[in-house]
Amino acid sequence: MKIFEKVNIGRTNKVSANRIALAPLTNSQSNEDGTISDNEYNWLVRRAEGGYGIIITCATHVSEDGKGWEGEMGVWDDKHIPGLTRLAEGIHKNGSLVIAQIFHGGSRAPEKITGKIPWSSSAYTIPGNPPKQVREGTIEDILQVIKDFSNAAKRVYKAGFDGIELHGAHGYLFHQFLSTDTNHRNDEWGGTYENRFRLLQTVIKNIRKELPKEFIVGVRVSPEDRGVFKGIDFDEGLKTAKLLADEGADYIHISAWEAMKRPEKYKEQDKTMIKYYREALPAHVSIMVAGEIWTPEDVEKCINEGADLVALGRCAIGNPDWPKLAVKEDYAPKRPPYTVTELEERAISPKFVEYLRRWENFVK
Ligand SMILES: Cc1cc2nc3c(=O)[nH]c(=O)nc-3n(C[C@H](O)[C@H](O)[C@H](O)COP(=O)(O)O)c2cc1C
Repeated sequence: MKIFEKVNIGRTNKVSANRIALAPLTNSQSNEDGTISDNEYNWLVRRAEGGYGIIITCATHVSEDGKGWEGEMGVWDDKHIPGLTRLAEGIHKNGSLVIAQIFHGGSRAPEKITGKIPWSSSAYTIPGNPPKQVREGTIEDILQVIKDFSNAAKRVYKAGFDGIELHGAHGYLFHQFLSTDTNHRNDEWGGTYENRFRLLQTVIKNIRKELPKEFIVGVRVSPEDRGVFKGIDFDEGLKTAKLLADEGADYIHISAWEAMKRPEKYKEQDKTMIKYYREALPAHVSIMVAGEIWTPEDVEKCINEGADLVALGRCAIGNPDWPKLAVKEDYAPKRPPYTVTELEERAISPKFVEYLRRWENFVK
């Protein structure tokens, strides 16, 4: 089966033992100061033991003011390095690669968490009760966050990780700058496509310059609008992916919540997003996809469309040994809802169980 082929990631010398990655999954298990707890360690290392070729951490913030929620992992200070090092060692011992998903929440880093009014590409009000004000980032904020991304990547590298994934998806800071819906600036950081892309471009350019070419640099993208996160045109997204490849991205991680999705913009065409991205990107850039993947057949379909790597999210929560068990032809992974006991048996701590209750019909 193609699932178990080794994959060379981008232009690095890093090889994933198979095509299966653990998707970045927020789990609320980190300590208050962003250091990694034993529960977070256990949850991730358990998936490495189960044979996942790549373990991607949850979204982890690069600046203190970029924290989006309680229990979030941090990479904004050197105090995080020992925990990251221990995690990298625990994962490597099992033969998996480890990648940190680094991000800044931007407008989605609430004042009640950071103690500061959130900033973004532009000022706006987030509806709600009460509505929340977001201020426009100053040039200093932008230059500082660019440095913070570089420093975070260096810490992750120092801790022995194989790479980083820049979280350019799901409505966080990079997405807020890319989007015509949330970026109304008229300086060099907004307005034209080139200006909206500049933040992500500068960050990847610097990281590529500052760290060795063997260090994996991936980028997660939202290929089109979804829910309240608007302002991303599908073709502009393809352009972003191509430009990221020019800047040295090793992989592009398409996050459409449904790996085999057809783009809304070209719904009438019988062509998956994966195919559009495969055609747009040079062959050396790996494509990762996630969303609604459960069975080995689901994975094979994505690979046949042109994906190199497939990330399992909810399925990996309930099936820590998926890659080891999927070698059997008739493997049927366990589907939700899961009981609390079942989750605990799968190295999910009570805090993570609580978080998972937000997902409909997930916890029994
Ligand atoms: C509990 C949970 C936490 C998530 N946390 C993140 C995250 O930190 N970063 C991210 O990019 N996506 C996050 N996602 C999205 C997943 O990475 C994945 O793309 C999505 O769940 C679709 O894949 P699935 O159908 O296999 O679950 C999260 C999803 C879930 C269910």
